[in-house]
Amino acid sequence: MTDKPFVTLRGVTRTVTLPEGDKLEILRGIDLDIYGGEHIGIVGRSGTGKSTLLNLLGLLDKPTSGELLWRGMAVQKISDAKAAKIRGRDIGFVFQQFNLLPGRTALENVAAPMLYGSAKDVMTRNRRALEVLAELGLENRAYDLPHRLSGGEQQRVAIARALVRQPKIVLADEPTGALDVETGLHVIRMLERAVLDLGATLITITHDPKIAAMSTRALELADGKLHPIESESNTSDIAQAVRAAKADSQKQAVRAASPARSASRASADASAADKQGVNAA
Ligand SMILES: Nc1ncnc2c1ncn2[C@@H]1O[C@H](COP(=O)(O)OP(=O)(O)OP(=O)(O)O)[C@@H](O)[C@H]1O
Ligand SMILES: [Mg+2]
Repeated sequence: MTDKPFVTLRGVTRTVTLPEGDKLEILRGIDLDIYGGEHIGIVGRSGTGKSTLLNLLGLLDKPTSGELLWRGMAVQKISDAKAAKIRGRDIGFVFQQFNLLPGRTALENVAAPMLYGSAKDVMTRNRRALEVLAELGLENRAYDLPHRLSGGEQQRVAIARALVRQPKIVLADEPTGALDVETGLHVIRMLERAVLDLGATLITITHDPKIAAMSTRALELADGKLHPIESESNTSDIAQAVRAAKADSQKQAVRAASPARSASRASADASAADKQGVNAA
């Protein structure tokens, strides 16, 4: 993890005006420091403002008040053209519904973001796209159209597209929403490994406590603010579910990491049983 945050939010609010003229305060004071190399999981009930927050982090929108610093620059002062440039170069988005271009092959979908980058020739772009597809185990699907791919494969293509320009941060909004539980966990593991291998940061928005439990830091968005999930004082249902899922996966990791210990315990148990004559024929 980097020692300096590269995105900082202080008292960030986002208020929208509804058609009748009423104001809706979606975010009411977000404080957050985001470091390189971490995986932040954000959970929260529907309509609490998770996508609104992600749009701010992805420079697709600006705060109503408060301070949002992108690598030390106040986003309010960044022009739309500069924001678009930063988005293309440093930010990868993964959406719930994949958002792949239906008439284009997996390879063309992954190569597409490079069209807007530094003018690389088509061979270089395709080579790079194939490399990333291969990292995600999709080298054999490069020339298939999206509708020929399974949901998990389509989401991996969407991940490859988010990673192809080696972003500094990947923002994933419910990336497993359209997948079954097992496929979802598998896809998140791949996404996390690929992002952390780049030394980049992953922010995952999810409804699934198991997925939030995989993050290095889980936060709950409620009442327009972020609340740490690790803190026992957070007694919401979802915080408790994430903590339980984390404890569960830690237990499984310990079991998986120490087969020697369980084998030696089993043999100690057997010899103790022998001594008691339990195993005697
Ligand atoms: N531009 C807008 N104008 C009016 N209302 C908006 C606007 N953007 C968001 N909202 C409202 O703000 C609230 C938060 O929206 P947001 O999409 O951020 O929620 P969310 O937490 O991502 O929900 P979900 O889990 O269902 O995706 C919702 O009630 C939404 O209808
Ligand atoms: Mg949303």
